[in-house]
Amino acid sequence: MVQAGHILRSSLETGQIGGLCRACGVMFPRGNGTLANEYAQRMVITVSEHDTTAEPTRRDFLYLATGMAGAVGVAAVAWPFIDQMRPDASTLALSSIEVDVSSVEQGMSITVKWRGKPVFIRNRTEKEIAEANAVPLEDLKDQAARNANLAPDAPALDVDRSAGESRENWIVMVGSCTHLGCVPLGQAGDFGGWFCPCHGSHYDTAGRVRKGPAPENLAIPPFEFISDSKIKIG
Ligand code: FES
Repeated sequence: MVQAGHILRSSLETGQIGGLCRACGVMFPRGNGTLANEYAQRMVITVSEHDTTAEPTRRDFLYLATGMAGAVGVAAVAWPFIDQMRPDASTLALSSIEVDVSSVEQGMSITVKWRGKPVFIRNRTEKEIAEANAVPLEDLKDQAARNANLAPDAPALDVDRSAGESRENWIVMVGSCTHLGCVPLGQAGDFGGWFCPCHGSHYDTAGRVRKGPAPENLAIPPFEFISDSKIKIG
């Protein structure tokens, strides 16, 4: 079996792995191989989407495995990708995180990682709050608040999407598009909120879907302010 760490092509049709290693230049004869682990398997799919050299009939895919001690350069490139995809044990263990938002001024936002997911924290401007408040509930595609801190039938009013009265400027949301899970871009889109470039979903400044295929507003995780400048998520 080909050792982990080499970057080879594998055929999903024949299950064979081989060819010229892109990391070390050594030629490996084609033979039966197995994917090193589930992360490598996911990597195959991810990389293949961008592999413009693939032969359409053979449907070759890049085989990217971890663990090679020798190819430091390749490891340095491969690791960030793999690391992003692997739920780190310490991350999984963190059921809650505390975030200091004292440096997040109005109009700014940060993204933190919670339970392996991106979470957007935005300190909204008065204008952004006013824009969200001006939208009648009946104009919304999804009229539910989707706020884990409120009752399931809470309406998607701006205040119910925010951190609540006196903290309407703060909005905390899971950064995962409700269509197929891409990470939307902040301060973007037709409504100045978030825009998902994958299939064109637009969210307003309260994270409510306003246009595109996303069916629901961005989810609000359980969170609370534990001091004036610190948020506990989870
Ligand atoms: S995943 Fe966001 S629009 Fe499709």
